[in-house]
Amino acid sequence: MKTLALYPGSFDPITYGHLDILKRATELFDTIIVTIAVNNRKETVFSGDEREKMIKTCLEDEEWAENVQIEQFTGLLVDFAREKGAQTLVRGVRQISDFEYEFRMALTNRRLAPDVDTVFLMPNEQLTFISASLVKEVAYWDGDLSSFVPEHVAEALHGYYKDKEQ
Ligand code: PNS
Repeated sequence: MKTLALYPGSFDPITYGHLDILKRATELFDTIIVTIAVNNRKETVFSGDEREKMIKTCLEDEEWAENVQIEQFTGLLVDFAREKGAQTLVRGVRQISDFEYEFRMALTNRRLAPDVDTVFLMPNEQLTFISASLVKEVAYWDGDLSSFVPEHVAEALHGYYKDKEQ
């Protein structure tokens, strides 16, 4: 049986930490759908299409990403999982402080859809401190983003905050 998992998140924007988790997930599942939450209750810097395009660019020359698809979704994640026939959600856990939120979210999703399970993966330890929100903070102050996100993502972030200043 072929295995299919969703890798859901805001990806606002995608970071090296996300890419590390995604690569690990491709080693465990036949197909992964990077599932971008759009029009959710969270305000985002980038639109769904912008986030999707950035992720696509990250993956275009990566052999390991052959079986990765990218989709946007609105609404409950478990509804989207059912629509796709996915029984597994992949989430990255960087440190213990992430765990409480992740645990609550996984159990809420399980209550809503007992047939959908969440697996947690840890990123490379060098990447555990990276988060999209801290990356945005560094970008806001025009800092060097090269160790946090790919170049095209850094350019998009710097462009966004430069435009905001004007
Ligand atoms: O990258 P993030 O912001 O931590 O991802 C959170 C995300 C998008 C996976 C989560 O908020 C989500 O699944 N939102 C859709 C609504 C939903 O199904 N919530 C889960 C029930 S608690």
